[in-house]
Amino acid sequence: MKITAVLLLGLTALGSAQLEWWQTSTFYQVYPRSFKDGGFDGIGDIPGIIEKLDHFVDIGIGGVWLSPVFKSPMKDFGYDVSNFREIDPIFGTMADFDALVVGCRNRGLKLILDFVPNHSSDEHDWFIRSKAREDPYTDYYTWVDPAGYNATGAPIAPNNWISVFGGPAWEWVEERQQFYLHQFHAGQPDLNYRNPLVLEEMNDVLRFWLDKGADGFRLDAVPHLMEEPGLPDEPPTNDPNYGPDQWGSLEHIYTKDQPELYDIIYGFRDIVDQKQGELGRPLVMLVEAYTNITNTMKYYGNGTHPGAHFPFNFQLIDNLKNETDAAGLQSIINTWFSNLPSGAWSNWVVGNHDQPRVAGRFGTQFGLTSIILGQLLPGTAVTYNGEELNMENTWISWADTVDPQGCQAGPDEYWRFSRDPERTPFQWSAEAMAGFTTGSTTWLPINENYVTLNLEAQKVAAKSPYKVYKRLTEARKNIIAVQTGELRTYVLDTHIFSFARAVPAGNPSVLVVVNLGFEDQVVNANPNNDLPVIANFYTGSLEAVYAENEEVSTVSLAIPARGALVLTYDALV
Ligand code: NOJ
Repeated sequence: MKITAVLLLGLTALGSAQLEWWQTSTFYQVYPRSFKDGGFDGIGDIPGIIEKLDHFVDIGIGGVWLSPVFKSPMKDFGYDVSNFREIDPIFGTMADFDALVVGCRNRGLKLILDFVPNHSSDEHDWFIRSKAREDPYTDYYTWVDPAGYNATGAPIAPNNWISVFGGPAWEWVEERQQFYLHQFHAGQPDLNYRNPLVLEEMNDVLRFWLDKGADGFRLDAVPHLMEEPGLPDEPPTNDPNYGPDQWGSLEHIYTKDQPELYDIIYGFRDIVDQKQGELGRPLVMLVEAYTNITNTMKYYGNGTHPGAHFPFNFQLIDNLKNETDAAGLQSIINTWFSNLPSGAWSNWVVGNHDQPRVAGRFGTQFGLTSIILGQLLPGTAVTYNGEELNMENTWISWADTVDPQGCQAGPDEYWRFSRDPERTPFQWSAEAMAGFTTGSTTWLPINENYVTLNLEAQKVAAKSPYKVYKRLTEARKNIIAVQTGELRTYVLDTHIFSFARAVPAGNPSVLVVVNLGFEDQVVNANPNNDLPVIANFYTGSLEAVYAENEEVSTVSLAIPARGALVLTYDALV
């Protein structure tokens, strides 16, 4: 049996007195188009979110993060911002935003906004003026002359770079006789951070929303902020899974993770810290970075300069697939902690609007198990809306596909890339339109399973993901071991992994036992006799045979296939 222990740096085994709200809270990502329609156009909006604020309180959320609600032509559903300081009419008005701030404050909820620094919309006023070479906007974007002209006189792109959504990362503009860079959709031109005016504009955007009442930001797509200025071609991956037009066909060594970008992030943190001093309320800055673990850790800061409060930890998204070996899961968790800089705060993300839902990635049983892991491993937990119900992916036909990443892949391949399946409307009840809208259509189809899989049904069911989820967020608040307990991980058997969040006797410690295998199993979770023989079942998989608070034997535990048991116990010493 392989055992590893991680002492949480900077924390005593019990004391949580110094912890900040963003450390003890569960964060909840709202995808506004799909959460709740306050009107009847079939698209979620801010009035809808206000209507449902009590849901956050009910499920024990501390921080609500909204995907972008700013003015946008919606080519990437809000991640293409045409005015960084306005609310898009689809989502409501500035008065609605103000009411949302008040509604959150009244309930003790923090409000986090999405900040999209890498690009604007091609309909942003800056871009329109930049195209026309109107100063000071001329160099707000990355404009490059053509590499030449082909036999028919068409301009040739500066290099072979490919956009994340597929196809060339360069778009020709007749008006300016130059190409502009877009690492995502052509409607999302990359801002030029070599121009100090751009940085100052974006710093002002941060200040603006903090003054409006936001409690912090999630920073979008930050590994893409800078590119190698010589614009060299990127080498091929030779990965047979990707065609020549697809992003996966190149190694992104010149368009991602460039060394200069970290200082920009640390600079954004300075703005947040300055405003925190000025406004007198604690703020937070989180970053979204799909990159390797070494680069991920750079977002925390460089030892002298702080960066993000935390970069999202995507280890359970990037590295946990459908494998069944307990040692693999232990290694994923230990790799994260062995790379975490001293004093840095951990977090766990299992899903978001860009990833298939956990129930789809892992199956419903292990989907719930992964939600349990995310809530009880050390650090902040981040939930994507619908995970509290263990909502499933929705099959979307090509005709109904709207995500640009799916559309650009074409009818044969869209299903590999489309993010629509995880973005369908939240399933509130078994009423018409799942209680999402009073209208008769929705922007994406509602999953047909809403008749049985919905919040109202899960509230009255004897067992449900919702009830498990509530127990987990309660544990985060009430069981000190979940905040500060020492992490000990164990491989108990080929498919059985467990971890403890241990505090000294006198307060409950927590033990989570996970069955990665596809067979029910009875296991001894106490092979070293270092746990008491009797523990209490706290919560766990719906298939678990135990009742809440029931006494169980740690030496003989029945664990359902792909399931998890959460136990509390009083340490022997
Ligand atoms: C990351 C966002 O999460 C994703 O939805 C978006 O398409 C890209 N960044 C571009 O902004």
